[in-house]
Amino acid sequence: MQLGYFENFLYSKKLELGTEARKVLNNLDCVSHYFQNNGSDFVSEKIRKSVEELFNSSDDDKLPLVIDCNDGYKALNRLSEFLQPVFSSIENPSFYFIDLFAGIGGFRLACQNNGGKCVFSSEWDPDAQKTYFHNFGEYPFGDITSPETKNYIPDNFDLLCAGFPCQAFSIAGYRKGFEDTRGTLFFDVATIIREKRPKAFILENVKNLVAHDDGRTFDVIHTTLTDLGYKVFYKVLNSMEYANIPQNRERIIIVGFDPQQVRNHEDFRFPEKQDLTNSIHDCIDYTETDESLFYRENHRYYPLLLETMVDPDTIYQWRRQYVRQNKSNVCPTLTANMGMGGHNVPLIITPHGFRKLTPKECLNFQGFPENFEFPPIAKSKQYKQAGNSVTVPLIQSVVRNIIRLL
Ligand SMILES: C[S@@+](CC[C@H](N)C(=O)[O-])C[C@H]1O[C@@H](n2cnc3c(N)ncnc32)[C@H](O)[C@@H]1O
Repeated sequence: MQLGYFENFLYSKKLELGTEARKVLNNLDCVSHYFQNNGSDFVSEKIRKSVEELFNSSDDDKLPLVIDCNDGYKALNRLSEFLQPVFSSIENPSFYFIDLFAGIGGFRLACQNNGGKCVFSSEWDPDAQKTYFHNFGEYPFGDITSPETKNYIPDNFDLLCAGFPCQAFSIAGYRKGFEDTRGTLFFDVATIIREKRPKAFILENVKNLVAHDDGRTFDVIHTTLTDLGYKVFYKVLNSMEYANIPQNRERIIIVGFDPQQVRNHEDFRFPEKQDLTNSIHDCIDYTETDESLFYRENHRYYPLLLETMVDPDTIYQWRRQYVRQNKSNVCPTLTANMGMGGHNVPLIITPHGFRKLTPKECLNFQGFPENFEFPPIAKSKQYKQAGNSVTVPLIQSVVRNIIRLL
């Protein structure tokens, strides 16, 4: 846990961290999970113990708490006043889920909007953890490959969500099955499914997963999930065709059901195609004037932009030597490396000139709600997080079709 971020934040509010508040923040993953799930059976024994130890160790004599709280609970409550999440968790949930490779919580929003309650999250990127905490009040646990992290996962949740990273992994051996997946993040997902046996799971990855290594990688994944006793469905879905979101983003969605727990699993259907009635203009803020986004006359590529960027109804993208127009008038696939060097961020024409999309607009092209917020982190990280995420309404409609059957 990086305290610097919170220290700066509190400092800006003329507060400092005292000893107890420091302890709380150093264990924010455990503590925030504990509080988010207080009173439910979904606090794993390991979390319960860690938090109890933490609070039992509070010593009233050693309380140089500048933020005037004299025990751990008060410290957290006081802190949470300043760190109010944007999205509260669901009161009377209709299902419970865990959020693996959680990023900034695209799956979490999709499930919460369907009445689900998150009972565990894991994400190891410190900036994504901040965005997640800022919006959901829960600080994700770190590296999911570590047994330590896996031990915090509770039992008896209904749905496992994992947008596991699209690392170009090739599964050696091709004998097919669980053992062949060792050393990949998919192996960790499969292990958790095997040990916890959720009623269902939903996994997301790049479209190319299906074709990778002549289909062998996907074959091993599919066989592994089937061997675990799950009935597996998969389909490549494009956000612009299935979610009424003007982004050309094709992703494979893999859904599985434990037939013992979900009798009518054969009734599962992926969502139907829907008309694209939203346009890029619904996602762009034409009042934006932040100069750092604009390409002005003095930019070396300005003449190229002036020549190429002519249609205000579409979005453009840098290629190595030229600028490419997106023919279908939708946003090209947002990527995780958009923020790096800045040249992969899609470009638009506005009344104020040519500019890149803002990170917030990128979130709009992923269907995030208006009130989702980035905490104060670098813009390059914000672009990365938006590009890494899922299109929320797309996942939301798949989840809706899953939970109907649970
Ligand atoms: C494709 S992104 C998923 C984004 C997410 N679905 C969302 O809505 O924002 C994959 C995420 O997995 C995280 N990750 C990669 N390896 C991890 C690990 N070993 N433990 C925990 N998180 C990991 C990355 O930091 C990244 O944010």
